[in-house]
Amino acid sequence: MRIDIITVVPEILKSPFEASILKRAIEKGLVEVHVHNLRDYAEGNYKQVDDYQFGGGAGMVLMIEPIDKCIAELKSQRTYDEVIYLTPDGKTLDQKMANALSLLGNMIILCGHYKGVDQRVRDTMITREISIGDYVLSGGELGAAVLCDAVIRLLPGVLNDETSALTDTFQDNLLAPPVYTRPRNYKGLEVPEILTGGNTKAIETWREEQAFLRTQNLRPDLLK
Ligand code: ADE
Repeated sequence: MRIDIITVVPEILKSPFEASILKRAIEKGLVEVHVHNLRDYAEGNYKQVDDYQFGGGAGMVLMIEPIDKCIAELKSQRTYDEVIYLTPDGKTLDQKMANALSLLGNMIILCGHYKGVDQRVRDTMITREISIGDYVLSGGELGAAVLCDAVIRLLPGVLNDETSALTDTFQDNLLAPPVYTRPRNYKGLEVPEILTGGNTKAIETWREEQAFLRTQNLRPDLLK
């Protein structure tokens, strides 16, 4: 998989890919992430990427020309399965969407900023619009990092224990069951006995029950 991210603040997208699981995925060659500064595709001395909106109103809008140039250059080099725009009015990201995106080859992610992008970009260049939740961020960059994390960890070989993504919260519309590690007793707080008894079948049944109970208590909407 190759992900190309287009942004006006590339700095925000450095550290998420320089640590832990995402870093390892890149080092193992399981994914390539390339961040492009939209300003590099802008004209003139000022490298202008945004302008006032027609009709008046507060807030700047990202211009179509640099975005068009950047996307056209990327597309001249390889094919892309999706050109995604991160925006609060997109379809809300969930595990099902992350699963679907993890099966793709290459994708471009365009991060919005200020008031957003010229609508003509959305109408003609974008294949999918995604929001990471019903709140407004100051730009799409953190959303892009969230999206990349959710997708990359699902790529085969990224997680050490191949099954661990399958038992995640949400993977089957259930929250994950509680987990414990050593010590067995911490200041009188005991680990549930069933987990230390070695009966694999009983442990599996307990975990299923706990996952159901937790979902019923915390997120009953998932069971509907
Ligand atoms: N840009 C601003 N807010 C956003 C959100 N909630 N999701 C994705 N991109 C955004």
